[in-house]
Amino acid sequence: MIIYKAADYHDMSRKAANIISAQIIMKPDCVLGLATGSSPVGTYKQLIEWYEKGDLDFSKVTSINLDEYKGLSPDSDQSYRYFMNNNLFDHINIDKSRTFVPNGLESDARKACNDYNNIIANSGGIDLQLLGLGHNGHIGFNEPGEAFEKETHCVNLTESTIEANKRFFASEADVPRQAYTMGIKNIMQAKKILVIVSGESKAAILKEVLYGPITPAVPASILQLHNDVTIVADEAALSLIPQ
Ligand code: F6R
Repeated sequence: MIIYKAADYHDMSRKAANIISAQIIMKPDCVLGLATGSSPVGTYKQLIEWYEKGDLDFSKVTSINLDEYKGLSPDSDQSYRYFMNNNLFDHINIDKSRTFVPNGLESDARKACNDYNNIIANSGGIDLQLLGLGHNGHIGFNEPGEAFEKETHCVNLTESTIEANKRFFASEADVPRQAYTMGIKNIMQAKKILVIVSGESKAAILKEVLYGPITPAVPASILQLHNDVTIVADEAALSLIPQ
């Protein structure tokens, strides 16, 4: 595991964008696993800037997102599909038909999840998976207690995740209670994993993830067993880790 210390959110975003750019340059038809949330917004901005400068070409890239709220349509401005279009896809030359997000409108959970596992398998596998870290150690929407061997599945969101995500909705009551998410098994099958972490509020969980026991109680702790993980975290997020 490689840990890069960034000065702040901006620096974290540049470093993460550099790693993603390297992946695209080395393998133009790569498969990127992507995330939503506050952590990757700056990374996506930086990628857009380099695309606009002519330094990056997304035309052959495939992207597969981690998760989507169950029940939200792609047009809903709270859906993760909308987030991805707005924060990245609409600003680069990626072929939208090769950008995948779980189908939040599919009410048959088994079908939605099987379809998504097939998309991942048919892509040939994820070359680089970008992850943010939840305050409770979740990755994707794999909440504490989830079995490590799961593939894409439907989850009930925990109170802490609903609380953390309510900032994007008009009220807490509007936050969907379920989501489709890639499972830990899908994530661990990615060839490389890049985790970005920013802010003091993530310092305690980041320490547990990196140095605590590997346990489903801290889903991201399983990353200790992956052979190609890069963490890019800012000083505030690394503040509890002995240097
Ligand atoms: C997003 C996702 C989540 C977030 C995590 C951190 O697609 O799957 O696991 O990465 O909740 O969210 P932020 O970055 O908003 O702190």
